[in-house]
Amino acid sequence: MRILLTGTEGQVGGALLPLLQPRGEIIAPGMAEFNFTDLGSLEARLDSFSPDLIINPAAYTAVDRAEDETELAYLVNAKAPAVMGRWAARHRVPLLHFSTDYVFDGSGERPWGEDDTPRPLSVYGKSKLEGETAIREAGGPHLVARTSWVFAAKGANFMLTMIRLASERPELRVVSDQIGAPTSARSIAAAVMKLVEGDPGQIGENFAKAAGVVHLTNSGTTSWYGFTLKIVEGLRARGVPLKVSHVLPIMTRDYPTKALRPTNSRMDLTRLKQVFGITTPSWQDALETELDAFVQQERAAAS
Ligand SMILES: NC(=O)c1ccc[n+]([C@@H]2O[C@H](COP(=O)([O-])OP(=O)(O)OC[C@H]3O[C@@H](n4cnc5c(N)ncnc54)[C@H](OP(=O)(O)O)[C@@H]3O)[C@@H](O)[C@H]2O)c1
Repeated sequence: MRILLTGTEGQVGGALLPLLQPRGEIIAPGMAEFNFTDLGSLEARLDSFSPDLIINPAAYTAVDRAEDETELAYLVNAKAPAVMGRWAARHRVPLLHFSTDYVFDGSGERPWGEDDTPRPLSVYGKSKLEGETAIREAGGPHLVARTSWVFAAKGANFMLTMIRLASERPELRVVSDQIGAPTSARSIAAAVMKLVEGDPGQIGENFAKAAGVVHLTNSGTTSWYGFTLKIVEGLRARGVPLKVSHVLPIMTRDYPTKALRPTNSRMDLTRLKQVFGITTPSWQDALETELDAFVQQERAAAS
């Protein structure tokens, strides 16, 4: 099987690459070869890659910056996926795409189901929703996996930011009224390997059983504050020297950001379990694994 995997410099793409390798020939073009902003070139590139399966974690993920770089966010998150969706539909090639809890408005306290109505609050959320819609309307075999709060030992993410801040500052103030599921790229990658089991025909059939959309996060929920407490606790347990002595909860209104974020990002994982038989690790277990990887990486770099 020829598998086109985008975004391998990113968290999810990077975690997927080694796992996918035994499944066939992996085509993992860098930005120079397959740049989503060069819309006109994408179709010819897809023709030449000629994949049997497309996995597309590449995205514009700078949530606050997207409020200013609107055009770029839409190009990468909506227009390029639309081209991919149409190409995949024409060639009957299954397309696994990723989306976000930020397509929801965060109202209520109930976990969001796949069929709940999205109402994004930010440019990033709107651009991701437009990407989802375009892929669905293209009508090919597709699955949109919506995930949340992605972290990994490498890359740009909340866990690494907190590790840096905890080593620089005596006090951290962290938002405690946004609730969601921190999700490791490693957990997403492990689940994806099950989502794409079988030959392309089988994969397409399985995607259809989920009606083209599934929620995929680690299990359990917390706030950014709760996540930070666990990060600091985990670092201390591993003997990492820290400056921080106080972690304080604050409200979203006390930490204004350019983009609005949903208060309730809880995601219902029932479909993931029922259709694909997948249960994901708790966010706490996923964090332990990632902290181990981080510490190992730091020690290797220092020696
Ligand atoms: N990060 C989160 O917290 C989060 C939460 C919910 C959902 N998601 C979704 O999950 C998926 C994976 O996210 P992630 O955290 O792995 O993202 P990430 O770490 O930001 O990686 C994104 C990847 O996309 C590539 N990319 C950006 N612009 C591109 C362009 N114009 N052309 C080609 N490639 C481009 C980046 O390349 P460079 O590295 O070279 O820039 C990078 O490899 C995305 O669909 C994202 O929307 C993420």
